[in-house]
Amino acid sequence: MAKLWAGRTAGETSKLADDFNSSISFDSRMYRQDITGSLAHAEMLKKQGIISAEDAAAIDAGLRGILADLESGALSIDPECEDIHMFVEQVLTQRIGEAGKRLHTARSRNDQVALDLRLYLRDETDEILDKIAGLIRAVADQAEAHKADILPGYTHLQRAQPVTFGHHLMAYAMMLLRDMDRLRDARRRMGVSPIGSCALAGTTYATDRRFEAAQLGLEEICLNSMDGVSDRDFCLEMLGDLSILMMHLSRFSEEMLLWTSWEFRYVELSDAFTTGSSIMPQKKNSDMAELVRGKTGRVYGDLMGLLTAMKGLPLAYNKDMQEDKEPVFDACDTVKMCLDVFAGMIATMRVRPENMRRAAQQGFINATDLADYLVGRGMAFRDAYKISGRIVAACIARDCVLETLPLAEYRQFSDLFDQDVYDAVDLDACVRRRISEGGTCVASVERQIAWVREQLNGEK
Ligand code: ARG
Repeated sequence: MAKLWAGRTAGETSKLADDFNSSISFDSRMYRQDITGSLAHAEMLKKQGIISAEDAAAIDAGLRGILADLESGALSIDPECEDIHMFVEQVLTQRIGEAGKRLHTARSRNDQVALDLRLYLRDETDEILDKIAGLIRAVADQAEAHKADILPGYTHLQRAQPVTFGHHLMAYAMMLLRDMDRLRDARRRMGVSPIGSCALAGTTYATDRRFEAAQLGLEEICLNSMDGVSDRDFCLEMLGDLSILMMHLSRFSEEMLLWTSWEFRYVELSDAFTTGSSIMPQKKNSDMAELVRGKTGRVYGDLMGLLTAMKGLPLAYNKDMQEDKEPVFDACDTVKMCLDVFAGMIATMRVRPENMRRAAQQGFINATDLADYLVGRGMAFRDAYKISGRIVAACIARDCVLETLPLAEYRQFSDLFDQDVYDAVDLDACVRRRISEGGTCVASVERQIAWVREQLNGEK
């Protein structure tokens, strides 16, 4: 097939080179953005008197027709075309003749592809933001339902201090909210228009880049045309933000896997989000969480791949940069799927507060409170810490817990101990006393839930 760029070369490219060079198999998913960009470009060319109003009208109608036909399936993408930009222009020219050949005035595929990708990723960002918000809502709902259920909080995966399940869950809501914030921030820089940078040096035509950008709903334009065509920071930022998001989901997955194990049994997943084993009849596996954890590596790979592809590139456009699309597409697809699955898994999980409490009753997670009790009676914290440690050792030797150690035994360690020591080590009281802002007491968790919901309902 004759190339749109035929002219300089006369010989045929080999089929092998054509296939290797082609990006239409993956960049065709940007057809909507490509056509939207071209509509704005034609509008600008008309306003500036670079093309006639008649040509502009023909281009406009032609492009809208192509969009409609692609959406309806009446027109299908030609895999023989090099990329989506060539495809649209070729069909346009077939359909409207001469005028179609004027569309590419004062434009290059270099600024065109940069624009398309920015527009595409902006749309993806909006979708991802909605999905994160959905997951946060599911997390906050579970947190509310279990705001008073006590489980051991862990450090080093050793039982540390009592916390509420609501508090534990809301920690993830906070992470996810930061993910949204990061993506919104990246979205702002994505909304800078490269179109009009042309091949690299700008153009001799009297274009109006700001008008064209405004047509597309973009607030700013790239102020250096060489940067405009060679900047892929917006892809990398998005991949970086998605990598952090996946890291959060992966940590959450890891906890789900622990919690759903027989060793913990804090949570049971709905049948809708588990799988069985082909050989072991008793199995109920948390495959969704494992896959999310596993796919995290894949998204990191997308980031690393593009970072590496970009690192040695001289200005301005290089064909290496065609390698930007598959990783960002893959990361977006992966993240969207993970978010949907995760939200469904969280919304339908069954929490087992009785198992959480049983675990909380072992492991001396109220030992800090015992030390605080002595501090409340005037002892220095370091001394109180030491005595409490000895008491824990004594309990282990007697096979009892702080709640059941007789008062007489307590008094052997310090005469500051009284009957009210049992209130001090009571698990519910331990949680109730964690009143510091951001702490685990129920009122604090309620405040966190309310704040997070407010954030979601406020800005987008
Ligand atoms: N398919 C190309 C890409 O994805 C479009 C830009 C091509 N530009 C060029 N000068 N060959 O990057």
